[in-house]
Amino acid sequence: MELRLLPRRDALVPLLMLLLLLVVVVHVHATPRLEMVVTSSAASGGGAGTTSRARAAPAPAAACASWRLGVETNNIRGWYGIPAECRGYVSGYMLGEQFRQDCAVVAREAAAYAEGLALAGDGREAWVLDVDDTALSNLPYYADTGFGAQPYNATYFDEYVANATAPALREVLELYGKLLALGIRVVFITGRHDYQREPTVENLRSAGYHTWEKLVLKPSSLGSSVVPYKSGERQKLVDAGYRIVGNMGDQWSDLVGAPEGERTFKVPDPMYYVA
Ligand SMILES: *[C@@H]1O[C@H](CO)[C@@H](O)[C@H](O)[C@H]1NC(C)=O
Ligand SMILES: *[C@@H]1O[C@H](CO)[C@@H](O)[C@H](O)[C@H]1NC(C)=O
Ligand SMILES: [Mg+2]
Repeated sequence: MELRLLPRRDALVPLLMLLLLLVVVVHVHATPRLEMVVTSSAASGGGAGTTSRARAAPAPAAACASWRLGVETNNIRGWYGIPAECRGYVSGYMLGEQFRQDCAVVAREAAAYAEGLALAGDGREAWVLDVDDTALSNLPYYADTGFGAQPYNATYFDEYVANATAPALREVLELYGKLLALGIRVVFITGRHDYQREPTVENLRSAGYHTWEKLVLKPSSLGSSVVPYKSGERQKLVDAGYRIVGNMGDQWSDLVGAPEGERTFKVPDPMYYVA
């Protein structure tokens, strides 16, 4: 008896064409689309959220890189939770070399700018620094909650803050040392609440920020809107005679709203959006 494992030669051509068609159909269906217009309301407390799709096919890296550029340039606003398709991309970015490179460029430009300033050295030249994901890194919290795969957990984040174990964002810490050496005073303005002062002081110190002119925390009575609070605090600095030579934060809401400061620097953060 003859055992036939292969189709007959005359059946091969239609079979190959069928296979080719299958490959094309599967490929077209597997190419994910990335929704760029995000209309949901913004996060208020510095947390990432989740999107409706729990599991999504990964988007091509180029689409996610475009999304990240849109976020960093403030073209994409009001988003809550990174696109489900880009979770792998964002975690890879945050934990990889690109994030470090991007932070290094920000810190290098800021240092070059500060070193080129004509400084009076009168103790009134100030640099405003944000705390969360600027001076300190909350990567341990976000890595632990799937970079937005899990909804923002305020209880857990409060525990994280109370723990006072956040590491410094090391490029910003290096810049901090250079600013102090130039005689520029560092003023922290943070969206953390006033009841979190103690662990924030402890955490800043243990991370290497040993001295500062002021640490401004948000009164618990204030609403969640960051821009009026932070710009109002900067105005108070100006009214007190400070010249804000630089202002650095990971959110656009740290940087916009007069007085912005003579120059602003955006630290990369594709993990969450704070209005
Ligand atoms: C939020 O965090 C708290 C404290 O770590 C934990 O007990 C709780 O289960 C978390 N909630 C969710 C929905 O993950
Ligand atoms: C608090 O810190 C300890 C280590 O000191 C760590 O194991 C724990 O996960 C931290 N908890 C939070 C919520 O960050
Ligand atoms: Mg921040």
